[in-house]
Amino acid sequence: MKSLYHHQHGGAGINFGTETLDFSVNISPISPPLGALSLNDFSLQAYPSIDGKGIKDFYKARFELDNAMVLPLNGAIEGIYLVPRALVLRHILALSPSFYDYERAARIAGADVTFLPLTADNGFQLPGIEQLAEALLHADAFFVANPNNPTGTEVPPEMIMALASRFPDKWFILDEAFIQFTPGFPDNSLMYQVMALKNVVVVHSLTKFYALPGLRLGAVIAHPDVIGRLLYYKEPWTVNAIAESVATLLLNLGAYEEELSAMILSERERITALVSGIEGIRLAGGAANFFLAQWNGGSTLDALFSWLAERQIHVRDCRNFPGLEENYFRFAIRRPVENDRLLDALRSATLSSGSPLRTMPVS
Ligand SMILES: Cc1ncc(COP(=O)(O)O)c(C=O)c1O
Repeated sequence: MKSLYHHQHGGAGINFGTETLDFSVNISPISPPLGALSLNDFSLQAYPSIDGKGIKDFYKARFELDNAMVLPLNGAIEGIYLVPRALVLRHILALSPSFYDYERAARIAGADVTFLPLTADNGFQLPGIEQLAEALLHADAFFVANPNNPTGTEVPPEMIMALASRFPDKWFILDEAFIQFTPGFPDNSLMYQVMALKNVVVVHSLTKFYALPGLRLGAVIAHPDVIGRLLYYKEPWTVNAIAESVATLLLNLGAYEEELSAMILSERERITALVSGIEGIRLAGGAANFFLAQWNGGSTLDALFSWLAERQIHVRDCRNFPGLEENYFRFAIRRPVENDRLLDALRSATLSSGSPLRTMPVS
Protein backbone atom coordinates (compact mmCIF):
# COMPACT_ATOMS: atom_id res chain seq x y z
CA MET A 1 0.00 0.00 0.00
CA LYS A 2 1.31 3.41 -0.93
CA SER A 3 2.13 5.46 2.14
CA LEU A 4 -0.12 8.44 2.68
CA TYR A 5 2.95 10.22 3.86
CA HIS A 6 5.03 10.42 0.68
CA HIS A 7 5.22 14.21 0.81
CA GLN A 8 8.44 15.48 2.34
CA HIS A 9 8.49 18.19 4.98
CA GLY A 10 11.20 20.38 3.48
CA GLY A 11 14.25 20.75 5.63
CA ALA A 12 12.58 19.84 8.91
CA GLY A 13 14.91 17.87 11.11
CA ILE A 14 17.81 17.86 8.67
CA ASN A 15 21.13 18.73 10.23
CA PHE A 16 23.03 20.92 7.79
CA GLY A 17 25.92 21.76 10.14
CA THR A 18 26.65 24.99 11.91
CA GLU A 19 27.80 27.10 8.94
CA THR A 20 24.81 26.28 6.77
CA LEU A 21 22.03 28.81 6.53
CA ASP A 22 18.78 26.93 6.33
CA PHE A 23 16.18 29.10 4.60
CA SER A 24 13.91 26.10 4.07
CA VAL A 25 12.39 26.19 7.56
CA ASN A 26 9.78 28.89 8.15
CA ILE A 27 10.44 29.76 11.75
CA SER A 28 11.48 32.98 13.45
CA PRO A 29 15.15 33.75 12.76
CA ILE A 30 15.67 34.87 16.35
CA SER A 31 14.99 32.95 19.53
CA PRO A 32 12.83 34.22 22.37
CA PRO A 33 14.78 35.17 25.50
CA LEU A 34 13.85 32.20 27.68
CA GLY A 35 17.10 32.20 29.62
CA ALA A 36 18.96 29.05 30.56
CA LEU A 37 16.35 26.45 31.39
CA SER A 38 17.22 23.10 32.91
CA LEU A 39 15.15 19.96 33.34
CA ASN A 40 15.05 20.68 37.08
CA ASP A 41 12.90 23.72 36.29
CA PHE A 42 10.03 21.41 35.35
CA SER A 43 8.07 18.97 37.46
CA LEU A 44 8.53 15.84 35.41
CA GLN A 45 7.62 13.47 38.26
CA ALA A 46 3.93 14.37 37.99
CA TYR A 47 1.50 14.34 35.10
CA PRO A 48 0.94 17.74 33.51
CA SER A 49 -2.58 19.18 33.60
CA ILE A 50 -4.86 17.00 31.51
CA ASP A 51 -5.97 19.94 29.37
CA GLY A 52 -2.74 21.91 28.81
CA LYS A 53 -3.67 24.61 31.31
CA GLY A 54 -0.39 26.54 30.77
CA ILE A 55 -1.30 27.03 27.11
CA LYS A 56 -4.79 28.23 28.06
CA ASP A 57 -3.19 30.71 30.45
CA PHE A 58 -0.98 31.98 27.63
CA TYR A 59 -3.88 32.53 25.22
CA LYS A 60 -5.92 34.23 27.94
CA ALA A 61 -3.16 36.64 28.97
CA ARG A 62 -1.70 37.27 25.51
CA PHE A 63 -4.77 37.25 23.28
CA GLU A 64 -7.60 37.73 25.81
CA LEU A 65 -9.23 34.48 24.75
CA ASP A 66 -11.40 32.77 27.31
CA ASN A 67 -10.19 29.37 28.54
CA ALA A 68 -13.37 27.75 27.25
CA MET A 69 -12.51 28.85 23.67
CA VAL A 70 -9.02 27.34 23.71
CA LEU A 71 -8.06 23.71 23.15
CA PRO A 72 -4.31 23.30 23.85
CA LEU A 73 -2.41 21.14 21.39
CA ASN A 74 0.85 19.34 20.82
CA GLY A 75 1.55 21.79 17.98
CA ALA A 76 -0.97 22.99 15.40
CA ILE A 77 -0.53 19.69 13.60
CA GLU A 78 -2.53 17.91 16.30
CA GLY A 79 -5.47 20.22 15.56
CA ILE A 80 -5.13 19.73 11.80
CA TYR A 81 -5.66 15.99 12.32
CA LEU A 82 -8.21 16.26 15.13
CA VAL A 83 -10.66 18.66 13.50
CA PRO A 84 -11.72 16.60 10.42
CA ARG A 85 -12.07 13.49 12.61
CA ALA A 86 -14.04 15.14 15.41
CA LEU A 87 -16.30 17.20 13.15
CA VAL A 88 -16.85 14.12 10.96
CA LEU A 89 -16.07 16.04 7.78
CA ARG A 90 -16.83 14.26 4.49
CA HIS A 91 -16.05 16.69 1.66
CA ILE A 92 -13.24 19.13 2.26
CA LEU A 93 -12.32 22.00 -0.02
CA ALA A 94 -8.64 23.01 0.18
CA LEU A 95 -6.31 25.25 -1.77
CA SER A 96 -3.70 23.87 -4.13
CA PRO A 97 -0.81 24.24 -3.62
CA SER A 98 -0.99 24.24 0.16
CA PHE A 99 0.30 22.47 3.26
CA TYR A 100 0.01 18.76 2.52
CA ASP A 101 -1.28 17.69 5.94
CA TYR A 102 -4.81 19.08 5.34
CA GLU A 103 -5.22 16.54 2.57
CA ARG A 104 -3.66 13.71 4.55
CA ALA A 105 -5.71 14.48 7.69
CA ALA A 106 -8.88 14.68 5.61
CA ARG A 107 -8.30 11.32 3.94
CA ILE A 108 -7.42 9.59 7.21
CA ALA A 109 -10.69 10.93 8.64
CA GLY A 110 -12.53 9.42 5.67
CA ALA A 111 -13.20 12.69 3.84
CA ASP A 112 -12.57 13.37 0.19
CA VAL A 113 -10.74 16.51 -0.87
CA THR A 114 -11.48 18.92 -3.70
CA PHE A 115 -8.85 21.46 -4.61
CA LEU A 116 -9.24 25.07 -5.56
CA PRO A 117 -6.19 25.90 -7.65
CA LEU A 118 -4.13 29.02 -7.00
CA THR A 119 -2.25 30.07 -10.09
CA ALA A 120 0.81 32.11 -10.98
CA ASP A 121 -1.04 34.30 -13.50
CA ASN A 122 -2.74 36.24 -10.71
CA GLY A 123 0.09 35.94 -8.20
CA PHE A 124 -1.52 32.96 -6.39
CA GLN A 125 -4.32 35.17 -5.06
CA LEU A 126 -7.58 33.67 -3.80
CA PRO A 127 -10.47 33.71 -6.28
CA GLY A 128 -13.38 36.05 -5.60
CA ILE A 129 -16.12 35.26 -3.12
CA GLU A 130 -18.64 34.00 -5.69
CA GLN A 131 -16.16 31.54 -7.17
CA LEU A 132 -15.35 30.35 -3.64
CA ALA A 133 -19.03 30.03 -2.80
CA GLU A 134 -19.55 27.92 -5.89
CA ALA A 135 -16.58 25.70 -5.08
CA LEU A 136 -18.04 25.24 -1.61
CA LEU A 137 -21.42 24.00 -2.82
CA HIS A 138 -20.46 20.34 -2.61
CA ALA A 139 -18.14 20.68 0.40
CA ASP A 140 -18.92 20.58 4.09
CA ALA A 141 -15.71 22.38 5.06
CA PHE A 142 -13.12 24.80 3.72
CA PHE A 143 -9.67 24.10 5.17
CA VAL A 144 -7.36 27.01 4.47
CA ALA A 145 -4.21 28.57 5.83
CA ASN A 146 -3.92 32.32 6.34
CA PRO A 147 -1.35 33.06 5.06
CA ASN A 148 -1.10 29.99 2.88
CA ASN A 149 2.06 27.92 2.84
CA PRO A 150 3.95 27.90 0.46
CA THR A 151 2.33 30.62 -1.66
CA GLY A 152 2.04 33.28 1.06
CA THR A 153 -1.52 33.96 -0.13
CA GLU A 154 -3.56 36.08 2.28
CA VAL A 155 -7.15 35.15 3.08
CA PRO A 156 -9.30 38.24 3.65
CA PRO A 157 -11.09 37.66 6.98
CA GLU A 158 -14.21 39.53 5.75
CA MET A 159 -14.54 36.99 2.94
CA ILE A 160 -14.52 34.05 5.35
CA MET A 161 -16.94 35.83 7.69
CA ALA A 162 -19.32 36.51 4.81
CA LEU A 163 -19.13 32.89 3.64
CA ALA A 164 -19.48 31.51 7.17
CA SER A 165 -22.65 33.59 7.61
CA ARG A 166 -23.98 32.54 4.22
CA PHE A 167 -23.27 28.84 4.84
CA PRO A 168 -23.94 28.17 8.55
CA ASP A 169 -23.92 24.40 7.91
CA LYS A 170 -20.39 24.39 6.53
CA TRP A 171 -17.18 24.60 8.54
CA PHE A 172 -14.45 27.17 7.92
CA ILE A 173 -11.16 25.94 9.34
CA LEU A 174 -8.41 28.52 9.33
CA ASP A 175 -4.81 27.48 9.93
CA GLU A 176 -3.24 30.65 11.36
CA ALA A 177 0.19 29.11 12.03
CA PHE A 178 1.95 32.09 10.38
CA ILE A 179 -0.49 34.90 11.09
CA GLN A 180 1.60 36.62 13.77
CA PHE A 181 4.21 37.39 11.11
CA THR A 182 1.72 39.44 9.07
CA PRO A 183 1.50 43.20 9.53
CA GLY A 184 -2.30 42.88 9.69
CA PHE A 185 -2.28 40.82 12.90
CA PRO A 186 -4.40 40.74 15.07
CA ASP A 187 -7.12 42.42 12.97
CA ASN A 188 -6.81 39.81 10.23
CA SER A 189 -7.19 36.86 12.62
CA LEU A 190 -10.47 35.01 12.91
CA MET A 191 -9.73 33.99 16.50
CA TYR A 192 -11.87 36.91 17.64
CA GLN A 193 -14.86 35.89 15.49
CA VAL A 194 -15.45 32.37 16.76
CA MET A 195 -18.03 33.36 19.38
CA ALA A 196 -20.16 35.08 16.72
CA LEU A 197 -19.53 32.44 14.05
CA LYS A 198 -19.75 28.98 15.55
CA ASN A 199 -18.74 27.34 12.27
CA VAL A 200 -15.35 29.09 12.22
CA VAL A 201 -12.49 27.11 13.76
CA VAL A 202 -8.98 28.53 14.09
CA VAL A 203 -5.87 26.41 14.44
CA HIS A 204 -2.98 28.43 15.86
CA SER A 205 0.66 27.54 16.42
CA LEU A 206 3.30 28.82 18.81
CA THR A 207 5.96 26.95 16.84
CA LYS A 208 6.78 29.46 14.14
CA PHE A 209 6.64 32.89 15.72
CA TYR A 210 8.31 31.79 18.97
CA ALA A 211 10.88 29.54 17.24
CA LEU A 212 9.94 26.48 19.29
CA PRO A 213 9.20 23.65 16.84
CA GLY A 214 10.81 21.13 19.15
CA LEU A 215 8.43 21.80 22.04
CA ARG A 216 5.13 21.32 20.16
CA LEU A 217 2.80 24.13 21.24
CA GLY A 218 -0.44 25.31 19.69
CA ALA A 219 -4.21 25.53 20.15
CA VAL A 220 -7.57 25.32 18.47
CA ILE A 221 -9.63 28.43 19.09
CA ALA A 222 -13.35 27.92 18.62
CA HIS A 223 -16.75 28.36 20.23
CA PRO A 224 -16.90 26.43 23.55
CA ASP A 225 -19.50 24.04 22.08
CA VAL A 226 -17.09 23.18 19.27
CA ILE A 227 -14.21 22.81 21.74
CA GLY A 228 -16.39 20.36 23.67
CA ARG A 229 -16.90 18.30 20.52
CA LEU A 230 -13.16 18.25 19.80
CA LEU A 231 -12.40 17.28 23.40
CA TYR A 232 -14.68 14.29 23.07
CA TYR A 233 -12.30 12.88 20.43
CA LYS A 234 -8.98 14.18 21.70
CA GLU A 235 -6.43 12.07 23.54
CA PRO A 236 -5.62 13.36 27.05
CA TRP A 237 -2.21 14.72 28.10
CA THR A 238 -0.90 15.52 24.65
CA VAL A 239 0.73 18.69 26.03
CA ASN A 240 3.72 17.70 28.13
CA ALA A 241 4.88 19.41 31.35
CA ILE A 242 7.79 21.27 29.72
CA ALA A 243 5.62 22.65 26.90
CA GLU A 244 2.94 23.68 29.37
CA SER A 245 5.44 25.57 31.55
CA VAL A 246 7.26 27.23 28.67
CA ALA A 247 3.92 28.48 27.27
CA THR A 248 3.52 30.74 30.30
CA LEU A 249 7.14 31.96 29.99
CA LEU A 250 6.18 33.34 26.56
CA LEU A 251 4.23 36.02 28.39
CA ASN A 252 7.47 37.66 29.56
CA LEU A 253 9.57 38.08 26.47
CA GLY A 254 10.25 41.81 26.76
CA ALA A 255 10.46 43.39 23.32
CA TYR A 256 10.88 40.06 21.45
CA GLU A 257 7.55 40.22 19.62
CA GLU A 258 7.94 43.85 18.54
CA GLU A 259 11.53 43.33 17.44
CA LEU A 260 10.70 40.22 15.47
CA SER A 261 7.69 41.82 13.74
CA ALA A 262 9.73 44.90 12.86
CA MET A 263 12.61 42.79 11.51
CA ILE A 264 10.31 40.66 9.34
CA LEU A 265 8.48 43.73 8.03
CA SER A 266 11.60 45.65 7.07
CA GLU A 267 13.39 42.59 5.65
CA ARG A 268 10.29 41.67 3.63
CA GLU A 269 10.35 45.12 2.01
CA ARG A 270 14.12 45.11 1.52
CA ILE A 271 14.17 41.62 -0.03
CA THR A 272 11.24 42.48 -2.33
CA ALA A 273 13.06 45.57 -3.59
CA LEU A 274 16.42 43.85 -4.01
CA VAL A 275 15.10 40.73 -5.71
CA SER A 276 13.24 42.87 -8.23
CA GLY A 277 16.69 43.86 -9.46
CA ILE A 278 17.91 40.27 -9.80
CA GLU A 279 17.56 38.83 -13.25
CA GLY A 280 15.93 35.43 -13.36
CA ILE A 281 14.05 35.47 -10.04
CA ARG A 282 10.40 36.31 -9.56
CA LEU A 283 8.80 36.54 -6.14
CA ALA A 284 5.23 35.65 -5.20
CA GLY A 285 3.32 36.05 -1.98
CA GLY A 286 5.42 37.31 0.89
CA ALA A 287 2.61 37.93 3.37
CA ALA A 288 4.22 35.77 6.03
CA ASN A 289 7.86 35.21 6.98
CA PHE A 290 8.71 33.47 3.71
CA PHE A 291 8.64 34.02 -0.04
CA LEU A 292 7.70 31.74 -2.87
CA ALA A 293 10.13 32.34 -5.73
CA GLN A 294 10.48 31.17 -9.31
CA TRP A 295 13.86 30.65 -10.89
CA ASN A 296 14.38 31.51 -14.52
CA GLY A 297 18.02 32.39 -14.45
CA GLY A 298 19.33 30.33 -17.31
CA SER A 299 19.91 26.97 -15.64
CA THR A 300 17.97 24.22 -14.00
CA LEU A 301 16.70 24.65 -10.46
CA ASP A 302 18.98 21.78 -9.43
CA ALA A 303 21.95 23.76 -10.69
CA LEU A 304 20.83 26.72 -8.59
CA PHE A 305 20.49 24.48 -5.52
CA SER A 306 24.03 23.16 -6.05
CA TRP A 307 25.28 26.73 -6.43
CA LEU A 308 23.59 27.66 -3.15
CA ALA A 309 24.80 24.48 -1.42
CA GLU A 310 28.39 25.32 -2.36
CA ARG A 311 27.78 28.54 -0.44
CA GLN A 312 26.20 26.56 2.42
CA ILE A 313 22.73 27.87 1.76
CA HIS A 314 19.65 25.69 1.69
CA VAL A 315 16.18 26.66 0.41
CA ARG A 316 12.97 24.64 0.03
CA ASP A 317 12.45 22.92 -3.29
CA CYS A 318 8.73 23.40 -4.07
CA ARG A 319 8.53 21.33 -7.24
CA ASN A 320 6.69 18.56 -5.40
CA PHE A 321 3.69 20.87 -4.86
CA PRO A 322 1.04 20.70 -7.59
CA GLY A 323 1.27 23.80 -9.76
CA LEU A 324 4.81 24.64 -8.63
CA GLU A 325 6.69 22.16 -10.81
CA GLU A 326 8.19 24.97 -12.91
CA ASN A 327 11.27 25.90 -10.87
CA TYR A 328 9.58 27.14 -7.72
CA PHE A 329 11.34 27.32 -4.39
CA ARG A 330 10.60 28.92 -1.04
CA PHE A 331 12.85 30.73 1.33
CA ALA A 332 12.27 32.10 4.82
CA ILE A 333 13.04 35.65 5.89
CA ARG A 334 16.00 35.46 8.24
CA ARG A 335 18.19 38.09 9.93
CA PRO A 336 19.52 40.92 7.69
CA VAL A 337 23.10 39.60 7.41
CA GLU A 338 21.83 36.13 6.61
CA ASN A 339 19.41 37.45 3.99
CA ASP A 340 22.33 39.33 2.45
CA ARG A 341 24.20 36.06 2.04
CA LEU A 342 21.25 34.54 0.19
CA LEU A 343 20.74 37.64 -1.95
CA ASP A 344 24.45 37.75 -2.86
CA ALA A 345 24.39 34.10 -3.84
CA LEU A 346 21.26 34.56 -5.99
CA ARG A 347 22.70 37.66 -7.61
CA SER A 348 25.97 35.96 -8.46
CA ALA A 349 24.08 32.94 -9.79
CA THR A 350 22.24 35.01 -12.36
CA LEU A 351 24.31 38.07 -13.08
CA SER A 352 27.78 36.75 -13.60
CA SER A 353 27.82 35.93 -17.28
CA GLY A 354 30.75 33.64 -16.61
CA SER A 355 28.64 31.75 -14.12
CA PRO A 356 28.74 28.00 -14.65
CA LEU A 357 25.00 28.17 -14.10
CA ARG A 358 24.33 30.04 -17.34
CA THR A 359 23.46 27.11 -19.59
CA MET A 360 20.11 28.32 -20.88
CA PRO A 361 18.85 31.65 -22.16
CA VAL A 362 17.29 33.91 -19.53
CA SER A 363 13.74 34.94 -20.38
C1 LIG B 1 0.80 25.84 7.33
C2 LIG B 1 1.29 25.06 8.50
N1 LIG B 1 0.43 24.76 9.48
C3 LIG B 1 0.81 24.05 10.56
C4 LIG B 1 2.11 23.58 10.68
C5 LIG B 1 2.48 22.78 11.89
O1 LIG B 1 2.70 23.60 12.98
P1 LIG B 1 3.13 23.01 14.39
O2 LIG B 1 4.61 22.93 14.43
O3 LIG B 1 2.60 23.99 15.40
O4 LIG B 1 2.51 21.67 14.54
C6 LIG B 1 3.04 23.86 9.69
C7 LIG B 1 4.42 23.36 9.81
O5 LIG B 1 5.23 23.44 8.93
C8 LIG B 1 2.62 24.62 8.57
O6 LIG B 1 3.47 24.93 7.58
